[in-house]
Amino acid sequence: MDICRQVDQLRTIVDGWRMSGETIAFVPTMGNLHSGHLSLVELAQQRASRVVVSIYVNPMQFSPDEDFDSYPRTLDDDLEKLRTMDVDLVFTPDDAMIYPQGESRSTFIEVPGLSDIIEGEFRPGFFRGVATVVMKLFNMVQPDIAVFGEKDYQQLLVIRQMVADLNLPIEIIGVEIKREADGLAMSSRNNYLDAAERENSRVLSESLQQLSDNIEQGMSIEQAESECHSTLASRGFIVDYVTIRETESLKKVSNEQLTANTVLIALAAARLGKTRLIDNLKFSVR
Ligand code: PAJ
Repeated sequence: MDICRQVDQLRTIVDGWRMSGETIAFVPTMGNLHSGHLSLVELAQQRASRVVVSIYVNPMQFSPDEDFDSYPRTLDDDLEKLRTMDVDLVFTPDDAMIYPQGESRSTFIEVPGLSDIIEGEFRPGFFRGVATVVMKLFNMVQPDIAVFGEKDYQQLLVIRQMVADLNLPIEIIGVEIKREADGLAMSSRNNYLDAAERENSRVLSESLQQLSDNIEQGMSIEQAESECHSTLASRGFIVDYVTIRETESLKKVSNEQLTANTVLIALAAARLGKTRLIDNLKFSVR
């Protein structure tokens, strides 16, 4: 497994592969790898002959009051996991390489519309940071395909929109959420939960499941959202949002628009103590 810190090393290796007709799949991450990340790597290996994984904690996507400094950095463990999986190349750039002028002076990518709603309302600048670093990484790696998790569903749609708008010749593949046995979506931030919070955290996925059952049984969208919100609040969550949306545009849907087989997505973000958790669930109306 090659490990590159510099873009010219990366380019030399990737260019060599391309000249021998290989296809390249790319999995961008911020490290602290868990089985959710590794399921993306597995899919990448099925879809291309070479797989590049990047590990970079991107300062541009953290606001000053977020956890950039405390975000778990576990490079040695991460490399060991990727080596076991036979990944071809791990790219581990540093801040000086990604933002030579400093991140606040960097050219940026803004995907309008999608970046300003839901998660974007609570984390202004977040999707600008994500789109900018992913665009830069795409330009460095130049993959044929790139793999993202549905755990960060809105992020996946922002990247798809960026790729379409800027005519990037990259196929974006989404992978379903990998969960713990009790339903909690895997996340590097789950490490922040203490034992009691970890026990309680399963309520997030359970209440999204309950919300989708309620809609299927004919409850109105507003009432289902509000019941889910109340359940979470009663179990100690500070809720940022619980919302039911159309799956491609993330637009709101009215009860009148619901017909048999309409596919919807429920998205939620809520804090438990100092940990902010997000989750989502796709479901169809019968
Ligand atoms: P990170 O949180 O490390 O996640 C890297 C990729 O793993 C993302 O595509 C994310 O959706 C996916 N992922 C995380 N947990 C998952 C789970 N439980 N099941 C399935 N996929 C999961 O997302 C980022 O990093 C950054 O924003 C990044 C795209 C790397 C840009 O900095």
